[in-house]
Amino acid sequence: MTSDYARYLAAKTTVDDRALNRHVLAELRRLMPAGAPRVLEVGAGLGTMVARLIDWGVVGAGEYILLDADRQLLDCSRLWLRDWAAARGLRSDLLPDGLQVGDLRVRLVHAELIRYLEAAHGALADVLIASAVLDLVDVPAILPGLLRLLVPGGVYWFTINYDGETIFEPPHPLDDQVMLAYHCDMDERIRYGRPAGDSRTGRRLFHHLRDAGAPALAAGSSDWVVNAGPDGNYPADEAYFLRSILDTIQNALRNRQHGVDPADLADWLAALGRRLDAGELVYIAHQLDFVGRSPG
Ligand SMILES: C[S@@+](CC[C@H](N)C(=O)[O-])C[C@H]1O[C@@H](n2cnc3c(N)ncnc32)[C@H](O)[C@@H]1O
Repeated sequence: MTSDYARYLAAKTTVDDRALNRHVLAELRRLMPAGAPRVLEVGAGLGTMVARLIDWGVVGAGEYILLDADRQLLDCSRLWLRDWAAARGLRSDLLPDGLQVGDLRVRLVHAELIRYLEAAHGALADVLIASAVLDLVDVPAILPGLLRLLVPGGVYWFTINYDGETIFEPPHPLDDQVMLAYHCDMDERIRYGRPAGDSRTGRRLFHHLRDAGAPALAAGSSDWVVNAGPDGNYPADEAYFLRSILDTIQNALRNRQHGVDPADLADWLAALGRRLDAGELVYIAHQLDFVGRSPG
């Protein structure tokens, strides 16, 4: 994983801040165990969620585990969180396996999710978080194991689950063709030797959660909406975020045989790149958030 990916995740922070569903978040706050809970976040990336949850007063004490398959990203995370805490005047201390931020012990765990589920993993979590992750894994296969990481009746919060709709404005004649191929790539993706994605993860989570005995207590949309301000500039580092989204689509379609003609894809990318440079590109991705309790 490159530092470009870490920058993408950092740039995504302000987009997620706006997108996270406030009704679902309010339910999370209501369900959040008092005291010093043990929180496990899978596919935690750079750790922007723990920073956000401290900022928003949702967590402040206890233990927060960031689990990710990407060791380099976890290494970045430790330093990114230290700098984030310093910028807020929060005391933090680096530890061999993470860092202490005020009363919160943040622990970094390098593991691939399925291997982690198959192995013994010690104490159960009170709260389980997965954000922008479940659309990268085989949800029906892993959801029961994932929920078993929680104490009975423990709280899950699954956010930013992609749900089959990407919109770019102004429209381009090739949009539908590109998106069809992009969704096919998500649906057929293999990672770590297993199916890894579903372009309609969001809507399917309603019944996957029910089937796993953990129906959602609240659900709602968490669409990404990115547009430039009246001065033509995108907020924060969101122009970089948009550029990364276009790169992701390009990489996904580059090697597809039944995808888009390479010359058409190049035209589409060039047209959207020009709109982005001009501050005219609007990007919307439909996603869904869920909160609930594990069985028992
Ligand atoms: C789109 S990023 C989201 C990161 C973070 N949750 C956020 O929203 O900023 C997905 C993350 O999940 C991790 N990931 C994907 N598949 C994984 C797996 N099978 N096991 C562990 N981590 C995984 C990736 O390394 C990456 O950091």
